[in-house]
Amino acid sequence: MYARVTGTGSCLPGKPVSNDDLAARGVDTSDEWIVSRTGIRSRFLATPGTTSSELGLVAAQHALEMAGVAASDIDLIIVATSTPDFIFPSTACLIQNKLGSRKGAAAFDVQAVCSGFVYALGIAEKFIRSGSHSKALVIGAEVFSRILDWNDRGTCVLFGDGAGAVVLEAADNPGILASALHADGSQNGILNVPGQVCGGQVTGDPFLRMDGQAVFKFAVRVLSEVAAEVCQEAGVETNTVDWLIPHQANIRILDATAKKLGVDRSKVIVTVDRHGNTSAASVPLALDEAVRDGRIRRGQKVLLEGVGGGFTWGATLLEF
Ligand code: ACO
Repeated sequence: MYARVTGTGSCLPGKPVSNDDLAARGVDTSDEWIVSRTGIRSRFLATPGTTSSELGLVAAQHALEMAGVAASDIDLIIVATSTPDFIFPSTACLIQNKLGSRKGAAAFDVQAVCSGFVYALGIAEKFIRSGSHSKALVIGAEVFSRILDWNDRGTCVLFGDGAGAVVLEAADNPGILASALHADGSQNGILNVPGQVCGGQVTGDPFLRMDGQAVFKFAVRVLSEVAAEVCQEAGVETNTVDWLIPHQANIRILDATAKKLGVDRSKVIVTVDRHGNTSAASVPLALDEAVRDGRIRRGQKVLLEGVGGGFTWGATLLEF
């Protein structure tokens, strides 16, 4: 029994917000600084009332449509998000309700920040390969703009909002060839939102904080290590992979990772220039874009990679 991606979908809220738009809104920055340091030119920012479940719902509907699967046939929903609608119930339960999918299907959220989608995909694959479930929706959905300190120009320019989804189904042929998930909790201090709700009050610091240079070095190292790990497990040379989709944090991280792996830059799917860093949504958003514009075709090998707060990281090698 294997698990195969049969549909992809995505959702971006509103219109692109350019670097100059951010400067016009009062952020002390410039297009030149942001583009040269990160490759980001614009991002999408949800309106105040828009939630992760709303974005995730639309992405899921597009993925179901491509797969030709009815919402009522889905028996597993996993949502990767660090910006859930509520503390509980989970965003997955909210999306299940909005989709009208099968009551009684398993639905839960995964918290692995920017690695969340790769984590959720790895978990869903194990459910499917065990035989317990056969049709899963795996969603990455974020409204990261809610946890940004708009007075911290070193972080607020980097992120955006959005959602991506895949339908993963039981199949006789792969599918997912190999996956790996890792974490190192000793690195929790270099990227975090160190706040919580307690006694009806927000305590601690409810905004994203980051040591950018430490994150950069860590991300490039683990992205290349985990890519090599899954390729070795599947018996595939890294330079023979058709497409590489790393977490879209920063163009310099993407370029450095591709170079370390010996993967030609033309095989790297890039959306960070137009989406910014959408955390758990970045990998499925990039996957959906490249599937829909015809770059990724059936039978090709695609390597997905995540890295994020925790620190967490992981990769999935699949045959599309
Ligand atoms: N606009 C203009 N100037 C800025 C901005 C901005 N948006 N942000 C910072 N600066 C200034 C700083 O104030 C500083 O000025 P100073 O020298 O006068 O003090 C100067 O630019 C350099 O600041 P640094 O923070 O040292 O900038 P650095 O070169 O490290 O670049 C960056 C910062 C882009 C975040 C870099 O560290 C990086 O790419 N890190 C990777 C982290 C990343 O991409 N994180 C995404 C989330 S993590 C994840 O998804 C896994």
